[in-house]
Amino acid sequence: MKPRVLITYNIYRDVYKEVLKDFDITMPAEGMETFTYEDVLPVVDSFDAILSMWNFPIDKQLLDAAKRLKIVSNYAVGYDNIDVVYATRCGVAVANTPDPVTEPTADIAMGLMLSLMRRIVDCDNMLRAKKLKWGIMNNLGTSLSGKQLGIIGMGRIGKAVARRALACGMNIAYHNRNRLGATDEKLYGAKYMALDELIATSDVVSLNAPLTSETYHIIDAERLAQMKRDAFLINTARGPLVDEKALIEALKNGTIKGAGLDVFETGDSVCDELLALPNTVLVPHIGTQTVEARREMAEFAATNIVNFFNGGKVAQVNKF
Ligand code: GLV
Repeated sequence: MKPRVLITYNIYRDVYKEVLKDFDITMPAEGMETFTYEDVLPVVDSFDAILSMWNFPIDKQLLDAAKRLKIVSNYAVGYDNIDVVYATRCGVAVANTPDPVTEPTADIAMGLMLSLMRRIVDCDNMLRAKKLKWGIMNNLGTSLSGKQLGIIGMGRIGKAVARRALACGMNIAYHNRNRLGATDEKLYGAKYMALDELIATSDVVSLNAPLTSETYHIIDAERLAQMKRDAFLINTARGPLVDEKALIEALKNGTIKGAGLDVFETGDSVCDELLALPNTVLVPHIGTQTVEARREMAEFAATNIVNFFNGGKVAQVNKF
C-alpha cells in the first residue's frame, strides 16, 4: 500500500502529483482553499505524513490522534506551529524548507528598510491622495549608508539581509545564540554584540530569529526604551518576537522612529492601532510570497517526505 500524505493547503497540485507520485495524496478539493484543524482531526489517524502550512497547528491533540504519522513536513522555515517536543516523543520527524525562503525573506526585510527610511510608501500615499508638498526640504528620509544594522538571528536569512545591507553601505552588528566563526564575521563585516549593546547602538534592528520561548517578546517595552530615538525596527520573522502593544506605544510616543512589519502578533491580521500609525510600513506576511519561492517550497516540502521514506536527505529539525 502506498504511504498516505495529507496536504493541508490547496496549492501546486501539479508539483505534488509529480514529486509524490508514489504516494497516496489527499488535499483540499479544487476551489477549496484549505483544510481546517477541525477537518483534519477526525481523519488524521489514516495518514503516514502531513504536509502542513506554517499557520496550521500540529499540537498534542492532533499528534495523539495521528496514530500512523511518521513525518510532518512544514511548508516554511519556521515551525513554531508544531509541538516539536511532543512530536519527537511520539517518534514523528519534523522537517522544514530552509533553502527556498532565505533570499525572498531577506528581500522583504531590505524592502521594508528602504520603504520606511526613504519614505517611499509614505510619499506614494501622499502623492496619490494629492496631499504631498513638493520641495527640496520636504519629505526628508534617512540615509542607509553609514548606519548600523543590528541583526538579531544571524542564520541563513540574517546573513542574506547582511549581504543586501552591505551593498547599501551599512555597518553590520549581530546577536546570535552562537557567535559566527572569524571567517564569516569577516565575510559579512559583522561585529558580534551582546543583545543590550546591539539594541542601544543600532540605527536599524532587524529580527531574523525563529519564535521560541527565548525569543518571545525579545523586543518589549524595556528594549524599545533602550533603542535610539531615531532608530527603526524591522520584523520579518514572527509577530510574537515583538510585544506589539509596547511597540505601538513606542511608535506613538517617539521612543523609536518607525517600524517595518511583515508579521504581527495577531497572526493573519493587523490591529487598527498599527494601521493608523504613519511611521510604519506594513505588509501581509509576504516574505516568501513570490512565484518562484512558493513553487520551490512545495517541491522542497514534498521532497522531504519522499526522501524520508526512501532514506534520502531530509531537512529534519528534530533528532530521536
Ligand atoms: C514563513 O513564514 C516561513 O517560516 O517560511
